[in-house]
Amino acid sequence: MPKVVIVGAQWGDEGKGKIVDIFTSSVDAVVRFQGGNNAGHTIIVKGEKTVLHLIPSGILHPGVVCVIGNGVVVDPEVLLEEINDLKKRGFLSDDSQLAISEEAHLIMPYHKKLDQLRESRKGKDKIGTTGRGIGPAYEDKMARKGIRFCDLENPEAFRKKLTDILSRRNERFVKMFQTEPFDINKIFNDYLASYQKIKKYIFNTSLLVNGLVKKNKNILFEGAQGTSLDVDHGTYPFVTSSNTVAGGACTGAGVGPTVIDEAIGISKAYTTRVGSGPFPTELEDETGKLLQTKGGEFGATTGRPRRCGWLDLVVLKHSVRVNGLTGLVLTKLDVLSGFEMIKIATSYEIEGKKIEDLPASLELLNQCKPVYEEIPGWTENISNLKRFEELPQAVKNYVRRIENFLEVPVILLSLGPERGEDIVIRNPFSSQ
Ligand code: IMP
Repeated sequence: MPKVVIVGAQWGDEGKGKIVDIFTSSVDAVVRFQGGNNAGHTIIVKGEKTVLHLIPSGILHPGVVCVIGNGVVVDPEVLLEEINDLKKRGFLSDDSQLAISEEAHLIMPYHKKLDQLRESRKGKDKIGTTGRGIGPAYEDKMARKGIRFCDLENPEAFRKKLTDILSRRNERFVKMFQTEPFDINKIFNDYLASYQKIKKYIFNTSLLVNGLVKKNKNILFEGAQGTSLDVDHGTYPFVTSSNTVAGGACTGAGVGPTVIDEAIGISKAYTTRVGSGPFPTELEDETGKLLQTKGGEFGATTGRPRRCGWLDLVVLKHSVRVNGLTGLVLTKLDVLSGFEMIKIATSYEIEGKKIEDLPASLELLNQCKPVYEEIPGWTENISNLKRFEELPQAVKNYVRRIENFLEVPVILLSLGPERGEDIVIRNPFSSQ
């Protein structure tokens, strides 16, 4: 039974939530392995919109086990809000549907404050983070100064850790940022109170997931953000602070690489990015505005307008390689209906020199000019089509060109935001 990792192939917001939701009807468990509530998955079922930031969207399917792995950083307040909201709407009536790793690191109030203060100080050089404390939480994890769920089990040890961390950090907040110091007692009490409510969901999730592997269950590992935001493989330093690539599923869920059968990448039929950083195919003109309006390109987490541009196959080729993609999903293909000509970047150019692979250096990447291929567009509304064969020839040509260039098959096309507005060519979870 397949174990499949699903990742964003661009800069996040590729529509992973909807795709994971489609495949979830064929899986036993969905596992998140990195990121935190910087992510935002929007799922629309029967016209009702659900936005999830932490809990895998598989939670909307009763009976599917949803796991928040050790690689995720968790803000307990956000987690509780999400749990309560789901329960109010009739989901998560069975608490055994959710499991959270005892090793997951906590986002603390000082992480959020630091994230926001740093960004506001950087001015035009800011990363454009979501301000949720993600970066500082991962920094503390690596610096071995993080607090994990398992630490809350022992209040005395938790208080000691918190006091050690804050005694020095409070000094910095006051001196460097001229802000009020954090009240250790308040954080201690608030986090313990949250923990009492969350405790029933806390487990050794590596044991749990490997147990499911042994039982030969279908498991979907759900990535957040996208490959170009990966801290190692993205457009550094304009990245998030975790490994968003498929390999992150192993470290972030506590499974070995031999467990994973496939890696599926999700890409929009064009490109978007929120926050700062290089974006070679960005369109700062009317066409970009049109993509933004037609595609409803506003962030699910922060509401920020997304920068828009044509599809970039250099970015996707890099994604295919660093994730080992075995299949590609194209989302929002319907948004391209009505464009007379559609462009796709197949390489870049710097002062007349052809660049075929994504440069690591930010300075080089900023100089890259996309080299475009033009493909005739289509005018038909394609959202109601159910089979690949029914698509207008121009749509088929567009999809085939992408497949041929990347040498990876397109396995699903998403043609609208609703469940059912899609063409599934191959479901990696159904045994064939
Ligand atoms: P952070 O993850 O909040 O530290 O933000 C770092 C960068 O990643 C910023 O450019 C954010 O806009 C971007 N980012 C973080 N999460 C997402 C996401 O879920 N979708 C798209 N961009 C994201």
